[in-house]
Amino acid sequence: MPPRVYVVDDDRLVTTSLSTALQLETDWAVTAYNSAVDALAAMATAPADVVLSDLKMPGLDGIAFLKQVRARTPTAVLLLLTGYADKESAVAAINEVGLWQYVEKPWDTADLILKVRQGLERRDLLIRVEAQNRELAARVAELEVAREQLLASERLAAVGRVMAGLAHEMGNQLGLIGYAEVIAERTADPDVAEFARAILRAQKRLGAMIAEIKDFVRSPDGHRGDGVYLREVDDLAAVVEEAVALLRFDRDAAGRTVELSLRARPVAQLHRGKIMQAVINLARNAVQASPEGAVVNVTVDADAEGPLVRVVDHGAGMTPEVLARIGEPFFTTRSEGTGLGLGITRRIVEEHGGTLRIASQPGQGTEIALRLPLAPPASPGAAPVRTGGP
Ligand SMILES: Nc1ncnc2c1ncn2[C@@H]1O[C@H](COP(=O)(O)OP(=O)(O)OP(=O)(O)O)[C@@H](O)[C@H]1O
Ligand SMILES: [Mg+2]
Repeated sequence: MPPRVYVVDDDRLVTTSLSTALQLETDWAVTAYNSAVDALAAMATAPADVVLSDLKMPGLDGIAFLKQVRARTPTAVLLLLTGYADKESAVAAINEVGLWQYVEKPWDTADLILKVRQGLERRDLLIRVEAQNRELAARVAELEVAREQLLASERLAAVGRVMAGLAHEMGNQLGLIGYAEVIAERTADPDVAEFARAILRAQKRLGAMIAEIKDFVRSPDGHRGDGVYLREVDDLAAVVEEAVALLRFDRDAAGRTVELSLRARPVAQLHRGKIMQAVINLARNAVQASPEGAVVNVTVDADAEGPLVRVVDHGAGMTPEVLARIGEPFFTTRSEGTGLGLGITRRIVEEHGGTLRIASQPGQGTEIALRLPLAPPASPGAAPVRTGGP
């Protein structure tokens, strides 16, 4: 697109001769106005690339006019036409309105065109530099985010190493607490026996927690598991059925109903025990967040993207602050929680090449979608694949 050039002068002789000369010598889109107000009105729909304005005009004078142009189009190239006697005000305007050049009347057309061209070149250069600056700033911001992520994962790895050592040592010491069993058996004092049994219950719970921690930090870098375990093409619905059946024995599920619906019976490449653990973790969280009498819906489905397990509850839901932190090791809002369930679940799902998507509204409930990738087609000679119908 050729640059749009406005010529503004109250003297018709000037606008006519100047715009004719420019139209002859250049391919610019030149329009002429005899009043600054008219020119400003036209600029509202057709912004100026270049403005050549007279200095002394009735009504709005050249400098006041160019000031308004500058405010609307910061990149416009502005030139002032002056008489010899007005040189000083033109010089002042250079700073005041960001004037590119002033041109003394009578002008030399070739020189005027050269000045405009130089102004346009400088303007294009400035626009390019600015775009590059913006891009550079965006890159710097990206780098900063990447650096933060790296630091966070390094911190997590360090925490993992410490936790692995601690969990091991705690497991050893916990064995000794088993002597409480002997105390419970041999004492004649019923109070002592009851205390001893309380100690044993605590031991059991601590043991389960340590097993969870060990599982979480089982990889050498304490951060991510290597995910190398055998996966077989299996009936996902059967795995979820088993998980839900197990959950019915869970103390926290008492008084809540876990409803399972099988909308499809997809097969997936999976590790039965791991996927069962993932589903149990999600459904346990759901019943724990639900009030008595509530229903938790577990659905097995499949779409074009692959198999899908949905766990939906109508319980407490999560605030954005909680949502932002879940999955962080040891982040929990439950007094009895360890804060590892979701982290372990996410890792299992990712190790299967799947995804975990969480949507939650405080006071409304939570929906978690566990997706697994489509099972690869069975190759000839491979073990038979179970494909069970609906
Ligand atoms: N379905 C849900 N509804 C509401 N909040 C949830 C739900 N699932 C998870 N949360 C929130 O996320 C937190 C972390 O869950 P996560 O399963 O990782 O740990 P936890 O349940 O607290 O402990 P545990 O390690 O025993 O599972 C919970 O404490 C709870 O605040
Ligand atoms: Mg949990």
